[in-house]
Amino acid sequence: MTSESAEVEIPQPATSAPQFTQLFSATRRGARLARLLAVEQLVAWGWPRDGERIDAAALVVAELATNAVTHGRLDGRGFRLGLALLPSGRLRIEVTDPRGEHLPAASREAVEGGRGLVIVDALATDWGVHPYPPSGKTVWAEVSAARTGVGHPASGGTCQ
Ligand SMILES: Nc1ncnc2c1ncn2[C@@H]1O[C@H](COP(=O)(O)OP(=O)(O)OP(=O)(O)O)[C@@H](O)[C@H]1O
Ligand SMILES: [Mg+2]
Repeated sequence: MTSESAEVEIPQPATSAPQFTQLFSATRRGARLARLLAVEQLVAWGWPRDGERIDAAALVVAELATNAVTHGRLDGRGFRLGLALLPSGRLRIEVTDPRGEHLPAASREAVEGGRGLVIVDALATDWGVHPYPPSGKTVWAEVSAARTGVGHPASGGTCQ
């Protein structure tokens, strides 16, 4: 793993839900690495690598991460990817960037212009934006989890 892919690990809150959090540099390469590490984490959680669900999750991660490094970038600041398997059976994807003053449209009706959020809207069961104090924002999306062996590994509460 390169230094660019894993600069800081953030402690996880105590929870039984499998979670993953990682900071990345705000570069195209950082966005690509976020997608790749997301796929590896989902495989580690038991998602079939060649499954439809993992492809959908990877695409959502890729679009949100690309937006973070394109529209949400601030010099010297990275972005954060969070993944969590929810008790509801969904995968929650969160991408946090430092540009809190630039919120993308959070309503489906208001999505226009680019194709990234249209793709997210099509693949996610729900998505939105919330502030990340003191000055950032988190764009989140939830997608249906893959069924095979997914959700709650024997070790439980996996954090990387
Ligand atoms: N993380 C973000 N921070 C600030 N603005 C954002 C962010 N993500 C999206 N936006 C805004 O929402 C718009 C729509 O995003 P979307 O991903 O759909 O299109 P795009 O990034 O402009 O183009 P494409 O994804 O097709 O390359 C963006 O043009 C930008 O204005
Ligand atoms: Mg985009």
